[in-house]
Amino acid sequence: MRRTLHILATFVAAVSVSFAGYYMQQTASAAENAAEPAPAAPADAAAPPAAPTPEEVKAAQIERGRYLANDVALCVVCHTPKDSKGLPIRDQAFHGGVIPAKAAYPDMQAFASNAPALGPMAGGAPEDVAYLLETGIWRPTGKSPKAPMPPFRLSKEDAEAVVEYLRSLKTFPPQ
Ligand code: HEC
Repeated sequence: MRRTLHILATFVAAVSVSFAGYYMQQTASAAENAAEPAPAAPADAAAPPAAPTPEEVKAAQIERGRYLANDVALCVVCHTPKDSKGLPIRDQAFHGGVIPAKAAYPDMQAFASNAPALGPMAGGAPEDVAYLLETGIWRPTGKSPKAPMPPFRLSKEDAEAVVEYLRSLKTFPPQ
């Protein structure tokens, strides 16, 4: 019995020593962690993101216009000369094009056979072209251009982006 008690006491002592050791280790490393300095925040973490420069704003506007004129409103398809297969000639983009189609209802609808060049003036005064793209009305005549020029209703922002893009193009026929 004595012997059993002794063994038990030794066991309990051993266990508590190891618990104590473990606990001390834990607290020590917790203290170490606590003592570690917080990772330094990047110098500009609190600063608001830098405002884009006027050049960046202009570049983004022109990119928006490029996307609309080439990929969405497809101005490029009508306002560009076509090759013998009827496809727009890319390096003459916006030089003006023949419309390879006829009116479906020629008696009812005036139909143009040419789409003018959209030169550095975007085919007219920038404000007039922007107005045309917003309203479908060509201000100098007070009328809509003939079909198949679509009566666009672009937002003011998008209309201005298309105009700025057209004005940024370098490859125009000699005026
Ligand atoms: C489906 C063909 C087609 C598409 C697409 C098209 N146009 Fe036209 N556009 C024409 C035709 C044809 C005319 C000439 C209309 C006329 O003679 O009355 C024209 C005329 C114009 C004019 C001159 C308006 C005037 O009365 O003098 C401008 C500027 C113009 N388009 C800009 C654009 C822009 C910018 C886009 C794209 C956002 C575009 N067009 C998309 C066919 C098109």
